[in-house]
Amino acid sequence: MSAAPLLHALRVDITTLEVDAIVNAANETLLGGGGVDGAIHRAAGPGLLAECRALPQLRAGVRCPTGEARITGGHRLKARHVIHTAGPVWHGGDSGEPQLLAACYRNVLALAREHGLRTLAFPAISCGVYGYPLHAATAIAVQTLHETLPGAPTVREVVFACFGEDVLQAYSAELGDEPDLP
Ligand code: APR
Repeated sequence: MSAAPLLHALRVDITTLEVDAIVNAANETLLGGGGVDGAIHRAAGPGLLAECRALPQLRAGVRCPTGEARITGGHRLKARHVIHTAGPVWHGGDSGEPQLLAACYRNVLALAREHGLRTLAFPAISCGVYGYPLHAATAIAVQTLHETLPGAPTVREVVFACFGEDVLQAYSAELGDEPDLP
């Protein structure tokens, strides 16, 4: 039985991480946006958008439904891959948002397993523009990964890339560890 994978929260710009895949909090078009989506596309260069446009589903005019995930190359990023997932927009919590957010983490793990990835980094999906309450979202993230990581044994490390101190504190509390002191 291999040791449990390392899950930790870091105050870091996700585009700087040299991991097998960084996760993009995208939208259903996968054609870029603001926030971390914009930062990833800026750092990856135009080849990332070109690859997203060329994804079979998108070529057929099919969007990436909320909760699903698609994998591309990392292009100019240090990360080898980008796994794009569309998180739910927060509408108060009675429109299936928790289930859809959990599906984002599960579907990212499914692609990580399929591609034999070892190291992953997640932003706080839906916690920016999409307005998901931070602590509810980080609880779903950690709980869903604890449930699904055993099914993806190649994954040995997961980084929660926190852009703000509030996000770092939320993940650190959820993970039960002391935040990385500045
Ligand atoms: N590294 C790590 N985290 C980041 C970075 C970065 N470079 N930039 C932003 N973040 C954080 C935000 O601070 C927030 O905690 O990522 C989290 C998610 O926020 P958003 O990027 O706004 O994503 P989301 O809330 O899921 O909204 C997605 O925004 O950018 C558009 O195209 C995107 O329509 C989609 C929507």
